[in-house]
Amino acid sequence: MHKPYNITMLGTGFIGMFYTMTLHGQRRRDRVVNVYSNDAEEARAFAKDWNIPRSTTDMAEAINDPESDVVVIGLPNFLHEEAALLAAEAKKPVLCTKPLGRNAAEAKRMLEAVESAGIFNGYLEDLVYDAKMLKSVDSVKSGTLGDILWVRARETHSGPHAAWFWDNEKAGGGAIIDLGCHCIEICRAFIGKDVRPVEVMCWADTLVHPTTAEDHSIGLVRFENGAIGQFEVSWGFRGGMDLRDEVSGTEGTIWLNHFLRTGFEMYTSGERGAYVAEKAESESGWLFPVGDELEELGYPPMFTDMFDAMDEGRKPTEDFYDGYVVNVIIDACYKSAKTKQWEPVELEIWRGAETTPKISPPPSEYEGKLLVKRERLPSGKVRLILQDKETGEAEQKFIEG
Ligand SMILES: NC(=O)c1ccc[n+]([C@@H]2O[C@H](COP(=O)([O-])OP(=O)(O)OC[C@H]3O[C@@H](n4cnc5c(N)ncnc54)[C@H](O)[C@@H]3O)[C@@H](O)[C@H]2O)c1
Repeated sequence: MHKPYNITMLGTGFIGMFYTMTLHGQRRRDRVVNVYSNDAEEARAFAKDWNIPRSTTDMAEAINDPESDVVVIGLPNFLHEEAALLAAEAKKPVLCTKPLGRNAAEAKRMLEAVESAGIFNGYLEDLVYDAKMLKSVDSVKSGTLGDILWVRARETHSGPHAAWFWDNEKAGGGAIIDLGCHCIEICRAFIGKDVRPVEVMCWADTLVHPTTAEDHSIGLVRFENGAIGQFEVSWGFRGGMDLRDEVSGTEGTIWLNHFLRTGFEMYTSGERGAYVAEKAESESGWLFPVGDELEELGYPPMFTDMFDAMDEGRKPTEDFYDGYVVNVIIDACYKSAKTKQWEPVELEIWRGAETTPKISPPPSEYEGKLLVKRERLPSGKVRLILQDKETGEAEQKFIEG
């Protein structure tokens, strides 16, 4: 039987609630024992709702609570560094929500603080932990899709729910830092965390909302082996929260839809309003609810991995180093969106492979020529496209299949 953990929860907002719901859900024995908010009333109400014995408006007091074993950071982006540094000082294991920092410099300081304190650190990137993702990543790792060429990850909705997200300074940016961080980590999970991200090309614009940060962006992250990670993010998308991934490999393809189409469709006249799913925009007509939102977003397996890793003295699947890499890629994206050029990913700390060769699946041959493609025609015959090895000329040949 595993050891139950006592937890300090920093933040009583949207994610603090989802995390606590997960931690106190099912028959889990881990418990939040102290909760911090800057708003005393909100902290007290949260503690009452979730049967948490103590609440405080003093962040250091919550972190240093002698009864708590681990600190979970669910605070606005501009408070992540302060909280992580306090946890490092208290020598308490710390789990931080995404993004790790507002930029790479912040993330690096946080990484260095937890590592020099020698404390367990986890990066709470839930979207690489949901069941479909875990199975897909396993398939990719076992070679089912061959070499991964291109990963496309999309997160779009109508915009975040709290004021600080819309303040460039407090959030560290707009849709890229808020949503792109998820997509980038999804791309890394499929392409391989060992493969170095080398450069990015990014478009960003403010198309809809009266805000100084970008509310739309598309970015390409080129990895050393030639694979491309593509993210698409929007705070102006109408119709719910669209979370989709596509993975293309030399031997196969995966399409994932995590939220807006999970196989659950419901019609209602809308006479009685009811919660449908995160960022759902309508409460009537045909709706697309989500069966178990926590599971669909990966929170329970994420905390299980974190606590199992603590028990077993190993690193979790996602730690502060991963958060740092994501921040470095995002910094390059912001630069590229300004310069309109490919910009290098400047990783001062790189722990992956020194070099990864370019993807080059072994070519097939037919009668001494390179086989480019084979396709069956409606007649039943097979057309082969062949390339001469010396001249590079392409030709076609029909064979009985
Ligand atoms: N899927 C995910 O992993 C996910 C989803 C949503 C949010 N997040 C992340 O969680 C963090 C918090 O986001 P949220 O949506 O819970 O925000 P929120 O505004 O709903 O809640 C933030 C909470 O932080 C506390 N707080 C302390 N000082 C504060 C201050 N000066 N201003 C505002 N709040 C203060 C309060 O308790 C507040 O309720 C962010 O880093 C965000 O990116 C992650």
